[in-house]
Amino acid sequence: MGAEPEVQARPIANSRSVMTEMVFPGDTNHHGTMFGGTLMQYIDKIAAIAAMRHCNMPVVTASTDSLDFLSPIKVGEAIELEAFVTWTHRSSMEVYCVVRAENLFTGEKRLTVTAFSTFVALNEQGRPAAVPAVYPENDAERALHDSAAERFALRQKRRKQRYSSTEGPDK
Ligand SMILES: CC(C)(COP(=O)(O)OP(=O)(O)OC[C@H]1O[C@@H](n2cnc3c(N)ncnc32)[C@H](O)[C@@H]1OP(=O)(O)O)[C@@H](O)C(=O)NCCC(=O)NCCS
Repeated sequence: MGAEPEVQARPIANSRSVMTEMVFPGDTNHHGTMFGGTLMQYIDKIAAIAAMRHCNMPVVTASTDSLDFLSPIKVGEAIELEAFVTWTHRSSMEVYCVVRAENLFTGEKRLTVTAFSTFVALNEQGRPAAVPAVYPENDAERALHDSAAERFALRQKRRKQRYSSTEGPDK
């Protein structure tokens, strides 16, 4: 296999992606609050956009970890999703997504969900392809960037334990 071309590192801010939605009755569950599955779909979508913005290649979701629902979201509220690439390895990118809900009458905003997802860039043959590195430019970005290698190692460990030849769920 030949050496992969060097691609210049890009700032985290380059991948920052934002989406705002209004919560309608059809988006809610039987408690009258937003259905978690719908929110997960939005998170996956905005995180994929951030990953593609970073690498300019097609990507697939490899995994989502630590999706924390911190407070319920009510019908009629607006939600704002923000996602950006925090760290890269070879072909994989960690994307952090934060969701804030907003009461449009009072202006009150609150943090409702945070999530880390991993996306993998694919080449024309559909195989994992190298992505540019990413670098932080402020303290908040630096905290996420500097802690990412540890999360990557935990995901690798979990993957190995769950899908090794002797321990996989379908073995
Ligand atoms: C993700 C996928 C491309 C990985 O392919 P693979 O043949 O296992 O490739 P590799 O083992 O070489 O791993 C490639 C990269 O993916 C990462 N990866 C693979 N599975 C992962 C997982 N479950 N969680 C996090 N990262 C993962 C590896 O760490 C590696 O990262 P690196 O290149 O930065 O070191 C493949 O498993 C796949 O296509 N999965 C289905 C994706 C999908 O359909 N998503 C939903 C719709 S978008």
